[in-house]
Amino acid sequence: MAKKITQEPEAGAGTSQMKAAPRDSVTLVDNRTGKEYEIPISYGTYPSYGAAINCLELRKVKVSDDDFGLMTYDPGYSNTASCKSSITFVDGEKGVLRYRGYPIEQLAEHSTYLETAYLILFGELPSKEEMAQWTHDITHHTMIHEYTKKFMEGFLYDAHPMGMLVGTVGALSTFYPNAKNIFDEKSRHKQIWRLIAKLPTIAAFAYRHNRGLPYAYPDNDLSFTGNFLNMMFKATEAKYEPDPVLSRVLDVLFILHADHEQNCSTSSMRGTGSSQSDPYSALAAAAAALYGPLHGGANEAVLRMLNEIEDVKHVPAFIEKVKSGEAGRLMGFGHRVYKNYDPRAQVIKGLAHEVFAVTGVNPLLEIALELERIALEDEYFLSRKLYPNVDFYSGIIYEAMGFPVDLFPSLFAIPRTAGWLAQWQEMLLDEDQRIARPRQMYTGVDERDYVPVEKRG
Ligand code: CMC
Repeated sequence: MAKKITQEPEAGAGTSQMKAAPRDSVTLVDNRTGKEYEIPISYGTYPSYGAAINCLELRKVKVSDDDFGLMTYDPGYSNTASCKSSITFVDGEKGVLRYRGYPIEQLAEHSTYLETAYLILFGELPSKEEMAQWTHDITHHTMIHEYTKKFMEGFLYDAHPMGMLVGTVGALSTFYPNAKNIFDEKSRHKQIWRLIAKLPTIAAFAYRHNRGLPYAYPDNDLSFTGNFLNMMFKATEAKYEPDPVLSRVLDVLFILHADHEQNCSTSSMRGTGSSQSDPYSALAAAAAALYGPLHGGANEAVLRMLNEIEDVKHVPAFIEKVKSGEAGRLMGFGHRVYKNYDPRAQVIKGLAHEVFAVTGVNPLLEIALELERIALEDEYFLSRKLYPNVDFYSGIIYEAMGFPVDLFPSLFAIPRTAGWLAQWQEMLLDEDQRIARPRQMYTGVDERDYVPVEKRG
């Protein structure tokens, strides 16, 4: 067990002499003034992964009393810890991912999505009784109000399902006005059940709406993913029986997507939630952030890219086009944090064969394997540490299972709901957190006087 370092030295300006004993601080010299500042370092559980200085300390670094003080400039937050969190741990250099300390590989092998969601949200694996209650609570909130269904009917027949999901989740806040009571634990938990339970229903209804198919209502006898497959694919049969292999594989995919610390969508959830808006509005913002092709929309983009490549013999030429910038990015490759193989991609690659044993092989797999083989030998990708990420193989599996390509981002949003809600709740209960409000470095013109139109040159 790693030791938590709690000792924090005093902060202060003007500490000039070097002390022999090492201490948890950095000394910063302002060459404009010659002044030195000692700034304390604080740590997460692991000193080597979570060391940070409080950037407000930098405001003490000034050239004069009326100077604003130093800020940090960090577009894209590449090196800024926006919170302390005990939910998910990622070591991008080693390719490690853990939820609440449990390795993702163990959860993928032994857990279920609902159990993992409970773990992420409440910090511990549930007891048998807690699990039974949790399953009941989720299962009994899968229905959506008939007016929500009517609301969805207003979308065009070719509306993108993720756009429908973003809009409909936002609209849920009008159905549950009590959700505004975000500091009432009971109310918060109710919204958590509702959101985890209703996202699959909304995604499946979006699909049915696009196809002009009658809606299939939730079946409470089925598992979380079994029921989702039922709402997606039930036709005229009296009772839909999900394939056990496919529903287990989907469950594992959901485990792998459940949380991933402070990514773009989670930061949107926390950022929007920091103004104390209700969780439906905050989650709509998070889902909107996920929609983009650099984030959760990448699984859809990968499939479109593989179809465009069309044949394995076109792969070398395609790689060259990526390197020259002609073909855009190699979708499903690269990650801000992972500079090694994404551990989720490793598990997903293994799952593909289980799925193909049931569905038949997706011919796009051959193209994907060849892309990976060539990219992982190529200097361009090696030097930039670009490896397959979670989205590289997931789409091939989803397609083999019968999901349409434009539904893929929703298949990311459904399980990520647990992570978003856990991070939102952690943010609300964290006394350090305030409304999200970054600073800027103003680069525009200085003050000037208004000129009437007739006097403008
Ligand atoms: N294909 C080709 N080159 C790439 C790629 C890629 N997929 N990703 C990064 N690069 C290059 C980039 O051009 C840059 O090169 P140079 O230094 O010569 O300018 C270098 O690698 C660093 O890229 P970056 O844009 O600074 O990296 P980032 O950390 O800002 O971006 C990323 C991370 C995931 C947005 C990016 O790797 C990317 O666009 N990947 C493709 C989209 C994708 O698969 N997204 C899913 C991410 S995993 C699921 C999730 O959590 O969302």
